[in-house]
Amino acid sequence: EKGGYDHFMLKEIYEQPQAIKDTFRGRMLVKEGIIKMAGIDDNIEKFKNARRIIIIACGTSWHAGLVAEYIFEEFARVPVEVEYASEFRYRNPVVFKDDVVIAISQSGETADTMAAIKLAKKQGAFVFGICNVVGSSISRITDAGAYTHAGPEIGVASTKAFTTQITILTLIALRLAQATGKMADSEFRSYLQELERIPGKVEKALKCNDQAELVAAQYKDAPNALYLGRGYNFPVALEGALKLKEISYIHAEGYPAAEMKHGPIALIDEMMPVFVIAMRKGHYEKVVSNIEEIKARSGKIIGIVTEGDTEVKRLADHIIEIPETLEPLTPILATIPLQLLSYHIALMLDKNVDQPRNLAKSVTVE
Ligand code: M6R
Repeated sequence: EKGGYDHFMLKEIYEQPQAIKDTFRGRMLVKEGIIKMAGIDDNIEKFKNARRIIIIACGTSWHAGLVAEYIFEEFARVPVEVEYASEFRYRNPVVFKDDVVIAISQSGETADTMAAIKLAKKQGAFVFGICNVVGSSISRITDAGAYTHAGPEIGVASTKAFTTQITILTLIALRLAQATGKMADSEFRSYLQELERIPGKVEKALKCNDQAELVAAQYKDAPNALYLGRGYNFPVALEGALKLKEISYIHAEGYPAAEMKHGPIALIDEMMPVFVIAMRKGHYEKVVSNIEEIKARSGKIIGIVTEGDTEVKRLADHIIEIPETLEPLTPILATIPLQLLSYHIALMLDKNVDQPRNLAKSVTVE
């Protein structure tokens, strides 16, 4: 059942190239320059007229929502808010009838997300669901939706659900940008072409496994860890930290790299591993100067960098290279080494990788 892998988590990490292809299937017609998604096409006027998009989710799905915020605002120029379902539902939030709510949930059973959807519907918003589990409760109570088609995710730590959620949200943002004319056709087409290359690039990123194992061996005994990123990769830093926390029980925090100087930099000493996502595209020089600040305080730097990087390599204690892609698509690739790092650290610490203590796969209670 684990297909030759020791754990479901590892199997699911390695399934990502195929899972992403399955998310595309029948939806992305690259030669024709078309994205076809029934749930969107049937409701395109609602999306086009949206005053704003409110994304609601929990945990890793919330991180996918944060990546989508950057993508939707860049591609479709529509304002986006990303909400924790548990906060949204109890806050007496302002919801307009012309808001489009996107609820993201792998399991489709998360209690807080369900309650947030019901609240938004009651206030008249159109609610679109992104679920992985076909026929799940959330897929049934939403007005329309799309499945990620990632296949069953058994490991409690979400992996392929995250990258396929980002994939489908990218398709939706592109489809909307095309419908509203906010993106030039040539740009739209170049995104489709690059998306088609993403499964192959994820495959290549997975080749960093040995290097991830090496880095894991170095830092497995650290009591704390920091994850930093900027822009599209700030949410990836949050996701990297969550992955480490939930399966290795090492305290980790994710931050936007530039927030360091507003407090967390005080934590840095020679005991602190700092995982920095430093892609060549996207605030590269800024991230490099953030790395210099950490180095000046003797922090240990592990750079997640673009293939062929030289500058971060010079400064970092370790680097892990991933293939180059268009900036908004880098989160899908940058996530891969962070998943593998957490997996190896948890394994080395002899933790139950697939079923971490205190956690359930679906959180059906609030
Ligand atoms: O099934 P959902 O996507 O609604 O689940 C949301 C969270 O409970 C989930 O992502 C959780 O944070 C994962 N264990 C993270 O790996």
